[in-house]
Amino acid sequence: MSDKKAHLEIDGIEGKIELPVYSGTLGPDVVDVRGLTAKGLFTYDPGFVSTAACESSITFIGGAKGILLHRGYPIEQLAEQSDHLETCYLLLFGELPNKAEKEAFISKVNAQRTVDNSIASLVKSFDRGAHPMSILCSATAALAGLYHKSLDITNNEHRVEAAINLIAKMPTLTAMCYRHSQGMDFITPNDDLDYAANFLYMMSGKTPSKTAAHAMDVVFLLHADHEQNASTSTVRLSGSSGTNPYAAIAAGIATLWGPSHGGANEAVLNMLNEIGDVSRIDEYVAKAKDKSDPFRLMGFGHRVYKNFDPRSRVMKKCCDEVLAELGNNNDPLLAMAKKLEVIALEDSYFVEKKLYPNVDFYSGILLKSLGIPVELFTCIFATGRTPGWISHWHEMLSEPYKIGRPRQLYKGAVKRDFVKLEDR
Ligand code: SDX
Repeated sequence: MSDKKAHLEIDGIEGKIELPVYSGTLGPDVVDVRGLTAKGLFTYDPGFVSTAACESSITFIGGAKGILLHRGYPIEQLAEQSDHLETCYLLLFGELPNKAEKEAFISKVNAQRTVDNSIASLVKSFDRGAHPMSILCSATAALAGLYHKSLDITNNEHRVEAAINLIAKMPTLTAMCYRHSQGMDFITPNDDLDYAANFLYMMSGKTPSKTAAHAMDVVFLLHADHEQNASTSTVRLSGSSGTNPYAAIAAGIATLWGPSHGGANEAVLNMLNEIGDVSRIDEYVAKAKDKSDPFRLMGFGHRVYKNFDPRSRVMKKCCDEVLAELGNNNDPLLAMAKKLEVIALEDSYFVEKKLYPNVDFYSGILLKSLGIPVELFTCIFATGRTPGWISHWHEMLSEPYKIGRPRQLYKGAVKRDFVKLEDR
């Protein structure tokens, strides 16, 4: 795979350790450290900041220049010229579909939109005040109970069927979470509407405007995949045990829920509401900079993007269009968000630490303008991200793979003998 080598000299170990270095089509080279185990060594990388955990051909992120490619296509072009379901096809199969392939894929997804009554009853069994992510996570895992027996994960066709099933059902489950929280009946999917329009229809019972449906589709598309982020890595790790894909996606949903990850869009809105007024922004920026204060500016910063998140630029444009159509261009939250962005982009703390608005910063304001309640934001993120999760799962299972099993730097007690209760 490579004639490049890394040469490692370690105190206390004789001679040099030679490690292969591999180059991808884009991005940094990687050092294959597997040879260290034979030398009685592990690498140490808490949070996997410097670890390439797998090979993948699905998505490339260039953090320094704000680049995001899905199968080589820039996110800006996909957001401008494609749509969410076409992007799902691209992520899953590696190429853009032709007309016939696209129509066949859409009809397969449409055929799987409805949810079994047992799952509907499960959703209804939750307290109406339950957080929708707890319901979505449980309902997705419950799908494993329905489809486990008919699913052979070593079979390519079965894997693709499960992928289409999950992509199809997520909007329906998310809409059901919302309707249940409002004590309203569930609305069955409307096959006359496309993916995003149907989602908004299942939320409200009304056919959305073209602008709203397009904005919703862009939100799903912008969230579709993002390389080896925490939730995708969770799906890969759980999938590597050979578990059911619905269970692996439920694990991804659980990971996404955290405010440092997909929960940030909900946290952005809660933060803006807590700030309450433009006049208090400086106070909160100071809190974000204060090391002794756990407060962070939600929607800012990213492990990979150290320049700008290309998705947040597209999201901001979409946000402006929807607010203009709704006549809410002077939405106080949007005014606060724009002021916060300007301050953060000029303040030396954020500039030096390369903290820029990420995908979650504007998505919350856009979703709020579409009438989506804040607690449902992360379910929308999960719905958008499902094609990415399941494409990584499918990619991993399409090649030989090993169960993921990291090691550790042990800092606990050395061996000692048990002490009887009477002697303690
Ligand atoms: C997503 O990985 C992905 O691709 C994720 C995602 C996807 O599509 O899957 O892009 C989606 O999760 C976007 C991120 C959403 N999260 C937030 O908006 C929450 C706020 N952001 C932070 O929690 C943070 O920026 C992270 C979690 C996003 C990134 O954290 P890192 O890479 O571990 O960086 P860090 O915590 O080591 O921070 C580096 C420095 C620290 O200061 P020092 O210790 O160096 O002095 O920057 C500071 C941090 O205190 N910092 C912030 C900050 N984020 C980092 N200070 C104030 N506010 C912030 N938001």
